Amino acid sequence: MKNFEFSIPTAVYFGAGEVNRIPELAPKLGKKAMLLAAKDTMRALGFLDKVEGLLKTAGIEVLVSDDVSPNPRDKDINRQTEAFLKAGCDFTVGLGGGSAMDSAKAVAFLAAQGGGNIRDYLAGGSNPEMAGVKDALKCMVITTTAGTGSEVTPWWVITNTDDHEKPGTGNDSTIAEIAIIDPELMLTIPASITKGTGIDVLFHAMEAYIANTATPFTDLFCREAMKLVVENLGTAIEDGKNLEARSNMAWANTIAGIAIGEGKSSTVGIHALGHSIGGQTDAPHGMTMAAIGPAYMRKTWDADIERYAEVTRILGYAEEGMSDKELAAKSPEALIKTLEKFDCRVSMSDLGVTEAMIEPMTDSVFKTMSGCLDCSLKVLTRDDVVQLYKDSL
Ligand SMILES: [Fe+2]
Repeated sequence: MKNFEFSIPTAVYFGAGEVNRIPELAPKLGKKAMLLAAKDTMRALGFLDKVEGLLKTAGIEVLVSDDVSPNPRDKDINRQTEAFLKAGCDFTVGLGGGSAMDSAKAVAFLAAQGGGNIRDYLAGGSNPEMAGVKDALKCMVITTTAGTGSEVTPWWVITNTDDHEKPGTGNDSTIAEIAIIDPELMLTIPASITKGTGIDVLFHAMEAYIANTATPFTDLFCREAMKLVVENLGTAIEDGKNLEARSNMAWANTIAGIAIGEGKSSTVGIHALGHSIGGQTDAPHGMTMAAIGPAYMRKTWDADIERYAEVTRILGYAEEGMSDKELAAKSPEALIKTLEKFDCRVSMSDLGVTEAMIEPMTDSVFKTMSGCLDCSLKVLTRDDVVQLYKDSL
C-alpha cells in the first residue's frame, strides 16, 4: 500500500437544524464578524437575516457584505477586505454556495496580510507560492448548496478580471475553522443550481478517484460520494423539498470535498480544463466539467483499468460478464449517460465557447491549473489539451 496523509482540521456540524448552533459556535472565532453573502438569494430567502440574528444573539458585532457575485472577482475581495479592516472585524462568515465561502476564505487571508491586492497571490501574480505570508484569520462557512466542497477544502477560486482566468488558490491556513452543513438550508435551491452543483460533486468524487494522488482514505469517500450522487441527485432536482435526498447530496458533497481537500487527493484534468471554460464564459462551474468530462474519459480510460472499471460500476452501467477492460472502456459512455440522466449533457458551444477561445483557454490551463493537470493518471501535453477542447466544442 502507498504511504499517505490526511488531516481534517475543520470542525463540521452536519444535519438538519445545525445552523441554530451558531450562537454556541461563533464566539470561539472572535467578536466582530464580516458576514459575506449574495444579496439577491440569501436576503430574499431570509437566511441572511437569520444568520445575522443568530450571530448577534451571541453578542457578536456583524458587518454585512451582501455583495458576493456568482464568480467572485479579485476586485470584490480587495474591496471587501478593505471594509473588513476598516471596521475592525476579526473573523469572516461565508453564507451561501462556493462563491460566498470562497470569498470568506479569501478575505480572511487577505485581511491577515493587512489588505492589498488578492491577485498577487493568484497564479501569475507576484507571490503565487504565498512565500512569507501570515496565516489567514479565522473563518466560519455555512453552506447552502451541495456542491464545490469549499467548506472542507483550503481552496478558493477568484476570477482574475484582467485575463479572465479562474485559478484555485489556498494554503494550509485558508481552511474554515467551522463548517455548518444544514440540509434544511438547501430545500429551496432551484433545480438548475441543484443540477450544476450536484454534478460538480460527482466530478470531485470521480476525479479524486482517478487521480494519481488517490489514497485508501480518499477512495472510501470517493466511492460513497459517487454512489450517493447517482442515487439522490435525480430526486433532489425533481423534488427539492425532499430532506432525505438533500441530506444525502449534502453528505456526498462534504465527503467528496474532504477527498479533494483535507484528504489530499485532487481533481484532475477535467477541473483543470473546466476552470478555463468558466474563466472565459462565466458558465456555471459544474456544467463546465460536464462539457469536458466525456472527452477526458475517452482520452484516459486505459490509464488504470481497475479504477475506470469501478467508475462504470458505480455509475450503474456495468453489464454481466464484462471484463474490467471492457468496463473501463465503457466509462466515457457511462459518464455521458449519467449526465443525460440528470439533464447535464452540454457541449462547450452550449456554454458560449468559440474555437477562437481554445488557445487562450489552453494557455490558462497550464498557467493556472497545472497542479490539477499533473494529478491526472495520464500525462497531458499542450496538444492533448487543445484536442480535448476541440473534441468538446
Ligand atoms: Fe468543482
